[in-house]
Amino acid sequence: MSDRIELRKAKGLKGEIIPPPDKSISHRAVILSSLAKGKSIVRNFLRAEDTMSTVNAFRKLGVKIEEVGSQESGVRSKNSEFRTPNSELVIHGKGQHGLKEPLDVIDCGNSGTTARLMSGILAGNPFFSVLTGDDSLRQRPMARVINPLKEMGAEISGRGGDKHLPMAIKGRKLKAIKYAMPAASAQVKSALLLAGLYADAETEISEPIKSRDHTERMLSSCGVNIDIEGLKIKIKGGQELKAKNMDVPGDFSSAAFFIVAALLIPDSDITIKGVGINPTRTGLLDVLKTMGAEIELTNIRDVSGEPVADIYCKTAGCLRAVKIGREIMPSLIDEFPILCVLGTQADGVTEIRGAEELRFKESDRIKAMAEGLRKIGVEVKEFKDGLSIKGNANLKGASINSYGDHRIAMAFSIAALIARGKTVINGISSVNISFPGFFETLKKLSR
Ligand code: S3P
Repeated sequence: MSDRIELRKAKGLKGEIIPPPDKSISHRAVILSSLAKGKSIVRNFLRAEDTMSTVNAFRKLGVKIEEVGSQESGVRSKNSEFRTPNSELVIHGKGQHGLKEPLDVIDCGNSGTTARLMSGILAGNPFFSVLTGDDSLRQRPMARVINPLKEMGAEISGRGGDKHLPMAIKGRKLKAIKYAMPAASAQVKSALLLAGLYADAETEISEPIKSRDHTERMLSSCGVNIDIEGLKIKIKGGQELKAKNMDVPGDFSSAAFFIVAALLIPDSDITIKGVGINPTRTGLLDVLKTMGAEIELTNIRDVSGEPVADIYCKTAGCLRAVKIGREIMPSLIDEFPILCVLGTQADGVTEIRGAEELRFKESDRIKAMAEGLRKIGVEVKEFKDGLSIKGNANLKGASINSYGDHRIAMAFSIAALIARGKTVINGISSVNISFPGFFETLKKLSR
């Protein structure tokens, strides 16, 4: 099967979407339920490649995880309905000291969240384990977890002078540390919080800017005492997790592609149902407000400790260009590619700086966006830490390399819908990392 798609200009998007379940929360639901003792049910679990890497990791560590049923997710428009694959998991947790030595290497696939969070857990478990990943993940930086875990006394080493996967871990009792993270990262923070559960005293972590706090919220709801004061988090070792049933909200980062599509495509009008609106994730909504877009949030509610809403959006009038800096970056880190597409249609020059972390994602997203945007006719300046994008651009179809990165493939697919002529997106199977059914959803909405 060819790994490319041809897309052309779309007519207005209309209908109601149920977006895929949140990827970050799905990972954490599997992790914390596996570490709790007893049965937990995770409803609306994201059945995608990344989250299945976490499920398979825990299966290798001896945790029984059953997949039952599937729930509604996808598009509802007129008479048709499309469902993106999701499922309900029944996890028979073993308790944090009940994991067993894996018989083989644990393959984290493309998933940085799996690799980094697992490293924190495995560092505290008294057995030998090896983590690896695909070509992309093996190039991504791991020293950011290896170094602080070593400070906690972990016996851990990685390829290239302890910088990359594969990573070998001989787990043991850990020492509590005080650690100031050099950069905001929910993956590093979460790895250290999980390692902190295996430490001999209280671990204190501080981050320079607040990153997504799903781990903290879920640990608290599993009965773990965790003390949060601004950017400082303290967790005492030896605490047990309680098994708890959870519902995963819709993924804001997946919804973001459709929010931007609706704003940019004339005659659009869509509602995205049940989207997580945790403020550590919704920086894009603040940016959209500054740009002059009107987005309506209704039916705001709580789902398993996370705020959730229905999001209504329609074609925007004139959008103002914006300047975005480091402070807001963690809350829109995964929205960088689609935000760049939005910038091409704003009035003025949009500048996104303080974003050097984007060079270490599933691809170098600054480079991938600069290259693709230029191909579709946008004037772009590339900086070490971001991009500036000249707005009011008249996009033209081109052949785009997604670099095997799901968010690059999806961002350019949205750009293709407002470009004249044919756009070819190469490497589209990567959308299965976070949003299986992305193209089917798009097709149904654009009827
Ligand atoms: C994630 C955290 C972010 C984000 C990634 C998922 C998580 O990465 O980009 O897609 O689930 O914790 P960093 O922690 O590296 O910023």
